[in-house]
Amino acid sequence: MFLLFLLLAGTSVGAFQTSVTDYAPALNVPCPDITNTEFVREFTASNQSLNPREVEYVQTRLNSTIPEAWKDWLGDGSQIGYNASSFQGLFPKVGLALPGGGLRAAQWGAASLSALDARNESSKAAGTGGLLQVSSYITGLSGGSWITGSIFFNDFPGFNDLVFGNGGNLGGWLLDLPFATPDGTDIFSERNQYFFGSILWSVMAKAGTGIDTSLTDPWARMISYHFLNQTSRDNFFSNDTAHGAGQLWSSIPDIPSFKNYSLPFPILVTDSRPSDDNSTTVLPLDSIITPFELASYDPNLSAGANLSYAGTHFNNKVPANGTACVTGFDQAGFMMGTSASLFNQILDFGSNTIQGFSDSDAKGLLYVLSRQLAEVRTRADDVANWPNPFQGLKDGVYQDSGATWLSLIDGASNIENIPLGPLFVKERGLDVVVTLDGSADTSQSWPNGTGVIFSKKRQEEILAASHQPFPPVPQDAQAFLDTGTTLRPTFMGCDPKNPSDYPLMLYIPNTPPFNGDDPVANTATFRLTYTQKHMRLMFDQIHNNTISGFVPNTNDADPNFGKCLQCAAIDRARYKMNPILARSDFCQKCFDQYCFDPQNPPSQDELPNRKFNFVDPDPQGLTRLTGFLGKNKGKLIGGLVGLAALIGVMIGGLIWWRKRRERNRQGAYKRVSALHQLEDEDAGRRSSKFSTNKFVMDTGPRYEDFVRPEAYELPSHRGSIVH
Ligand SMILES: *[C@@H]1O[C@H](CO)[C@@H](O)[C@H](O)[C@H]1NC(C)=O
Ligand SMILES: *[C@@H]1O[C@H](CO)[C@@H](O)[C@H](O)[C@H]1NC(C)=O
Ligand SMILES: *[C@@H]1O[C@H](CO)[C@@H](O)[C@H](O)[C@H]1NC(C)=O
Ligand SMILES: *[C@@H]1O[C@H](CO)[C@@H](O)[C@H](O)[C@H]1NC(C)=O
Ligand SMILES: *[C@@H]1O[C@H](CO)[C@@H](O)[C@H](O)[C@H]1NC(C)=O
Ligand SMILES: *[C@@H]1O[C@H](CO)[C@@H](O)[C@H](O)[C@H]1NC(C)=O
Ligand SMILES: *[C@@H]1O[C@H](CO)[C@@H](O)[C@H](O)[C@H]1NC(C)=O
Ligand SMILES: *[C@@H]1O[C@H](CO)[C@@H](O)[C@H](O)[C@H]1NC(C)=O
Ligand SMILES: *[C@@H]1O[C@H](CO)[C@@H](O)[C@H](O)[C@H]1NC(C)=O
Ligand SMILES: *[C@@H]1O[C@H](CO)[C@@H](O)[C@H](O)[C@H]1NC(C)=O
Ligand SMILES: *[C@@H]1O[C@H](CO)[C@@H](O)[C@H](O)[C@H]1NC(C)=O
Ligand SMILES: *[C@@H]1O[C@H](CO)[C@@H](O)[C@H](O)[C@H]1NC(C)=O
Repeated sequence: MFLLFLLLAGTSVGAFQTSVTDYAPALNVPCPDITNTEFVREFTASNQSLNPREVEYVQTRLNSTIPEAWKDWLGDGSQIGYNASSFQGLFPKVGLALPGGGLRAAQWGAASLSALDARNESSKAAGTGGLLQVSSYITGLSGGSWITGSIFFNDFPGFNDLVFGNGGNLGGWLLDLPFATPDGTDIFSERNQYFFGSILWSVMAKAGTGIDTSLTDPWARMISYHFLNQTSRDNFFSNDTAHGAGQLWSSIPDIPSFKNYSLPFPILVTDSRPSDDNSTTVLPLDSIITPFELASYDPNLSAGANLSYAGTHFNNKVPANGTACVTGFDQAGFMMGTSASLFNQILDFGSNTIQGFSDSDAKGLLYVLSRQLAEVRTRADDVANWPNPFQGLKDGVYQDSGATWLSLIDGASNIENIPLGPLFVKERGLDVVVTLDGSADTSQSWPNGTGVIFSKKRQEEILAASHQPFPPVPQDAQAFLDTGTTLRPTFMGCDPKNPSDYPLMLYIPNTPPFNGDDPVANTATFRLTYTQKHMRLMFDQIHNNTISGFVPNTNDADPNFGKCLQCAAIDRARYKMNPILARSDFCQKCFDQYCFDPQNPPSQDELPNRKFNFVDPDPQGLTRLTGFLGKNKGKLIGGLVGLAALIGVMIGGLIWWRKRRERNRQGAYKRVSALHQLEDEDAGRRSSKFSTNKFVMDTGPRYEDFVRPEAYELPSHRGSIVH
C-alpha cells in the first residue's frame, strides 16, 4: 500500500494532465448534508417552478446583456418604423430550437446560427445578425445537441472558427475523419485500432466503477472527438489529451462566456422510455438536461434533479446511501450522446440494415456482427443508462416511479425532431420561438413540418396544463409543402386575439437555395463523413439562404428580410405597452409577406425554380478520402455499416472485458477501484485520480487486444449485462 502511495506521489507531477479515463465518474463521494440540500425538486403542472439558478441566469441576462443586444440590433428602431425607446425596455423573450439529424443537423445549426449572429459581418449587414444575441434560450436535440454543446465547450467562438478551426486553439469539427472509423473503413487498420483502444479505455474506466454502460458510451466518446475542444488533426490518434473526457455539463457555468451572460441558456432534450418496456411504440416521456438539472416538465413527472449528482441512486429525493453520492457522471459527451442515443431504433431494424448492405465482401464480417448485436440487445445496452433520481416520485402517474434505472433515448424518438417542448413550458414565458427546422423528412431530405406538427399534437394531448398552446401552423405535412412553408421563412401566429394565446413562431427551414443553385445541404442523417470542401459549401449555402428571405415569384434575395426578421422578433413587445402600440407600416408590409394566415394560405407557386435534388459538390472527395484511408477497397462499406461494425467491436470488447472482470478479480480494475477508495478517503485530492490513470496507463493492460477478431467472443448467456 505504501509503495502504491509513493507511485502515486511520483506520478502526480503531471497532475494536471488529463486522460481519456477521466470519463469515469467518481463513486462513493460523500453527499452534501441532506438536511439542507435539495437534490430533487418537485412541482406540479399547474404550479410549475424553474430551477432557481436557471431563473437567475435568464433574468440577469434579460436585465443586462439582452437590452444592449436589442439596441445593437435595432438601433433606434427607425429603420423598421418604430422609436425603440417607446418599448420601455420591455422586450420579448426569445428562444431558439435546433433539431436533430446527425451531422447534417449539427452543420445546419452552426450555419443558420451564424446567419443570426451579430458578430458575423455579412449577417450583420443583412440585418439578420442579432437574433442570436437577443435570445434567452437555445434548445438542441440529437445532432442539434452536438452544435449546442460545441458552442459552450469551445467558449462561443465565431461559428466559422468553431466548424473549420482557426489554426490555433480551435481544431474544428474534422468531419472528414469518419465518425465511427476515422482511419477509413478498414476497422483493423492500425490507427482505427488505436482510436478504438482509446474509446474503449474511456468506456471501461466508467464500467469499472460499476455504473452500467451501453452503446451510448462509445458513441458519446466519438461525439466528443469532434465537438468538444481537445481534439485536433494532429492529436486525433493519440492519448495526448482527454479528448473531452472529464468535461462536465454541470461545469458549463464555469465557461467564460456563460459567466458573463453572453449566451442563451442551453437545454438538451432526450426522451425517457419506460424502463420496463422496450417496445418502440410507447410514447416516451420528454426529459431535459440543463447545466443544473435532469428534469421533466411533462405533467406526469414535473420534477428536476441536480445534475452534479446525476449517477447517484436516489429514493424519495434523498440519496439511497449518504456516503455514496456520484459525481462526474454528467460528462459533456454523454449528455450529447444521451440526446442522440438512437440505438434502440437502429438495432430494432438491425437485421434489415444488415440485409440491405449484405454485399459479398462484407458478408462474413456482417454475419458475425449481426450475431453479436442480436446477442447483446438488452434493455441496458441500446439506451443511455441513468440511475433514476426520481425513484419513489408520483407513484401511479410517473412511469418510472419504481425503477432503479432510467432508459434515456434520442430526443426525437417521439417524432418531435425539433426541441420545441422546453420553449413552450408556461413558466419560461417565451414570446417568440425560433424554429430552425433542418429535419430530413421528404425523400430529398428536406423538412416537411412533421416535427412541428407532432410537437403541437403532443402539446394538445398531453401537455395542455403545463405548456403554452401552439400558434396556427399548416395542418399537416402536405399543407406545409403545398403552402411553400418549407421553402422560405414564415412567421406563424402573427395576430393573436390575446397576446397570451400563444408565442409567435419564426419558422426558418433548411430550404433549396432561393437563387436556384444546386443544393448541397440536404444530406442524409446517417452520413458520417464530409469533405472539408463540402462542409465549406454547405455552410455558406445555408448561411446565404438564411440571411436572404424571398421575393415572391423570383429567385432574388429580399433586401428587407433582415428588417422583417427584426419586425417579427420585436412584435410581441407592442402588446406589453398600455395601450398596445400599433404595428409600424413597414412591419405590416413584412407581415403581409412573411406571415402564415390559415384563412389565406400562401402557395409554393410563389417560389419558382428551386432545385430539390442533392448535388454532391465534391463527388471525387469521398472516394479520394476512402481511397487514401482504406487499405482494401474490397472492404468498403457504408457509413452506417461502419458504425454498426464499430458498435459490434465495442460490444465485443465490453463483453470480453465484463466477463473478464467477473472471472478475474485480480484484473487491473480491481486496482483501479482500490485506488478509487483511496481517493474517497481524501476526496479533495482530485490529482490522485489523474495519477491513478497514469498508473494504469503505465502498468495496466493495453486494450489493443480487445478489438482483435478473438474479441468477438459472445456472451455465454443472454442478458448477462442487465442489472
Ligand atoms: C454506503 O456506501 C459506502 C461507501 O461509501 C459503503 O461502504 C456502505 O456499505 C454503503 N452502505 C449501505 C447501507 O449500502
Ligand atoms: C406553488 O409552488 C410553490 C413552491 O414551488 C409553493 O410555495 C406555492 O405555495 C404553490 N402555490 C400553490 C397555489 O399551490
Ligand atoms: C431584473 O429586473 C427586474 C425588474 O427591473 C427586477 O425586479 C429583478 O430583480 C432583476 N433581476 C435581476 C436578477 O437582476
Ligand atoms: C423617441 O422617444 C423618446 C421618448 O419618448 C423621445 O425623447 C425621442 O425624441 C424619440 N425619438 C424620435 C427619433 O422620435
Ligand atoms: C476546453 O474547455 C474546457 C471547458 O470549457 C476548458 O476548461 C478548457 O480550458 C478548454 N481547453 C482548451 C484547450 O481550450
Ligand atoms: C490509448 O491507450 C489505450 C490503452 O492503453 C490503447 O488501447 C489505445 O490504443 C491508445 N490509443 C492511442 C491513440 O494511442
Ligand atoms: C464574455 O466573455 C467572452 C469570453 O471570455 C468574451 O469573448 C466576451 O467579449 C465577453 N463579453 C462581454 C460582453 O463581456
Ligand atoms: C425486450 O426485448 C426482448 C427482445 O426483443 C424481448 O424478448 C423481451 O421480452 C422484451 N422485454 C420486455 C419487458 O418487453
Ligand atoms: C400519465 O398518467 C396518467 C394517469 O394519471 C396515465 O393515464 C397516462 O398514460 C400517463 N401519461 C404518460 C405520458 O405516461
Ligand atoms: C413528411 O415526413 C415524414 C417523415 O418525417 C414522412 O413520414 C411523411 O411521409 C412525409 N409526408 C409528406 C406529405 O411528405
Ligand atoms: C461570416 O459568414 C460568412 C459566410 O459563411 C463567412 O464567409 C465569413 O467568414 C464569416 N465571417 C466571420 C468573421 O466569421
Ligand atoms: C449567395 O447568393 C447570391 C445571390 O444569389 C449569390 O450571388 C452568391 O453566389 C451566393 N453565395 C453562396 C455562397 O451561395
